[in-house]
This record gives sequence, C-alpha cells and structure tokens, in this order.
Amino acid sequence: MTWNDKFSADASSIDASEIRELLKILSDPEILSFAGGIPDPALFPMDQVRAFRERMVDQPAQDRQLMQYSQTEGYDPLRSWVANTNSSEYTTVLKENVLITNGAQQSLTLLASALIDAGTPIAVANPTYLGALQVFGCRRPKYITIETDLNGLKVDAVEAAFKQGVKFLYTVPDFQNPGGMTIPLERREKIIALAHEYDVIIIEDTAYRALYYDTAPPPSLLEVEGEFLGQNKWNDKGLVVQLGTSSKTLMPALRVGWTIAPTGVLDKLILLKQANDLHTSTVNQTLTYELANEIIEPHLEELRTVYGERCKAMIDALRQYMPNSVTFTPVTGGMFVWLNLPEGMNARKLLEKSLAEEKIAFVPGAAFHANGGGENTLRLSFSTCSPDVIYDGMKRLADLIRREI
Ligand SMILES: Cc1ncc(COP(=O)(O)O)c(C=O)c1O
Repeated sequence: MTWNDKFSADASSIDASEIRELLKILSDPEILSFAGGIPDPALFPMDQVRAFRERMVDQPAQDRQLMQYSQTEGYDPLRSWVANTNSSEYTTVLKENVLITNGAQQSLTLLASALIDAGTPIAVANPTYLGALQVFGCRRPKYITIETDLNGLKVDAVEAAFKQGVKFLYTVPDFQNPGGMTIPLERREKIIALAHEYDVIIIEDTAYRALYYDTAPPPSLLEVEGEFLGQNKWNDKGLVVQLGTSSKTLMPALRVGWTIAPTGVLDKLILLKQANDLHTSTVNQTLTYELANEIIEPHLEELRTVYGERCKAMIDALRQYMPNSVTFTPVTGGMFVWLNLPEGMNARKLLEKSLAEEKIAFVPGAAFHANGGGENTLRLSFSTCSPDVIYDGMKRLADLIRREI
C-alpha cells in the first residue's frame, strides 16, 4: 500500500508550493531576502497588544468570554466596522453582508468550495496570487488566464474570457500580488459592465488596498459596481464579492480576514465555514476590532511612511542599476515589484546563481501563472528591508543579471 493510492482526486491535485519550499532556505541569516511577501514585524502594534492583554487580565469575567466559542458569522462589532468602512455613496454594506474568516485565505477556500466543481471555467490574471491558485487548484477548475500590462487586467482579454463562460474572475486590483499593478478607474468600469453583460461573478481581493504611498487607489470594484447598479441595488443584483484582511495592516498571526457579499451568497459561505471550523478565534477578533477601532488610521500612516521609503528605494535602485533590457512595474503601493528579465533568461536558474554567488533571494515568476509561462519573470518584495539594504541588493542583482546577459 502507498498513501498516494489512498488520496482523493482533489488532494492528489495539490503540489508543494515552490514558494513555501523556497522560504524554508531563507532561515539562513546570510541570505538577503526579497522573496517573502510578509509585513515587517518591527511595525506590529505591540504596545496596543500589551495593553489589551493587561485589560483582559483586569476583567476576568469578560476575559473568559473571549476564550469561549462564538457565532460563525463573526464578532458583531468587527462585522459592523468592516461594513461601515466599506460602505460607499451607492452601496450600504450591512453587517449581515460580512463574514469574518480565518484570514482572506479562508475566504478564498469558502468561495472555491461554494463555486467550483471539477472542470468549472474560472478566470485569473497572468500573473496572479499563488495562494489563490493553490486553493482553486484543489478543486480542479479549468483556468482561463487573462493577460495583464502595467495597468493590470487587459479589458479585451477579460471580455474574451467572459465569452468562454467563466463562472468568476478572481482579481487583486490594487498593488497586485505578485505584479504590483493597480487597475485604473476606466478599466474597472469596463470590467464591471462586462461582468453584468456576461453574468460573471467578480471576486475582488483587497489585501493591499490600504498600503498606498502616493495617491489612494481608484474606487474598489465593489464601489464601482454600486454606482453602476444605482442606489442600494448591490445586495439584490451585485456580482462583486470582496475579500479583505487585517494581515497586511495589523498582524497576520491574528488570522482575521473577511468576505463582503450579497446575503444570497454570504448565507451559503456561513454554512460552509460552520462545517469547516465553526468560527474564527473569538479573542483574536476582539483584539482586531479594538486595534481597528482605536489605532488603525495613525498606524496606517506609519506603515505608509516606512514602506513608502522602501518602495521608493527599490524603484530608484532598479532605475539606477538595472540594464535597459529589464523592465519592472513602477509601483507606489503594496509590497511587490515585478521584473521582466530579457527574453530567454530563466528566473529559476538566475535564482540558483543569485543564492550561490550573491546570497540574494527572490521568487521566480512562473509559479504565479496558472497555465504556464512567465519563466523570465520574478517577484521582489521590499517590505522587510531598509533602503540601504535595498540599494545594495538591487545593485548586486543587477550586476548578476548583466553577467548573465
Ligand atoms: C493577494 C492576497 N490575498 C490573500 C492573502 C491571504 O492573506 P491572509 O493572511 O488574510 O489569509 C494574501 C497573503 O499574502 C495575498 O497576498
């Protein structure tokens, strides 16, 4: 008997993630890593966490409730906070439209099980968030990939995918992971109009939306759809389901994310979550609510200042050091810059040399492509390195690329 013979078809379809495998070698302190897409722990709001812990200890009765089971939908004050923060002129989001999840990753899992059967056609960008490909891939969909440029999804490619009858489009419209692109308003409007013309659900992932270092991104697809449909029609007619998370703005170990959806969808997701894990940690939801309520704006200002300097350093360094045959997204938000190496250069092989000769890590781009391709692309993250380290790392990487050319 081998265990492989026993696994379900869904489980057999899961491969080890190239990135998770790669991250294992990054514990070597000598490696300068631009690979991980993680927030800088030095920026976690630890003073507030300490104060929360002390308050808990001072109030034993309430403290115990925080350690109790709670409702699947999530902690009501947090649901209301999410609803209020995401309501707009045309769409009032109610707490009944919000499900708190174990990170945005669980939102993706629940949506995948609600919407995908083996062979279901779904549309994703080329490149797209690898964690979404992992979740969707478990259910063996048929991927239709949509080409992108520096402004994200190309509208004609979106229409071509919709014509093929996809059930949904998954997109990260703001400072995309991994590509860094932000979709401009005009394209967002066209995508929403097309979604309604072809009856395609849009899963909008806003993981990096609050992390802008120049101007705020255009209205979200949820907001654009609100205006498209008219005053408060979204709950009845909306096709946009929006995901959010506290991982990038507060701390990922909270594992607190959310799904905002018309109640017709949300009620199904609640049942799926109940079957999956009953509810998200009560104490973590309460802490997230207190942090969101008390410090989120000044905290975001701090993140924007610190990450903004790192982002600028990376773009400046790339402009200064990279050969002209290397192109990149001139990002002003999020955590990532996407590089296109000269045609024919393989980013995986470059990584091997980069680790051996320069001790610099990045993520080769091929894994972010659902149907293959992207061998000459790579992702760099600037979120955990100081500007000096970024200049030094980009110079060394550029020198290596020149040697390869
Ligand atoms: C685009 C995107 N969506 C979702 C997630 C998952 O985030 P969470 O920590 O909320 O599960 C990530 C994490 O890297 C991400 O980059």
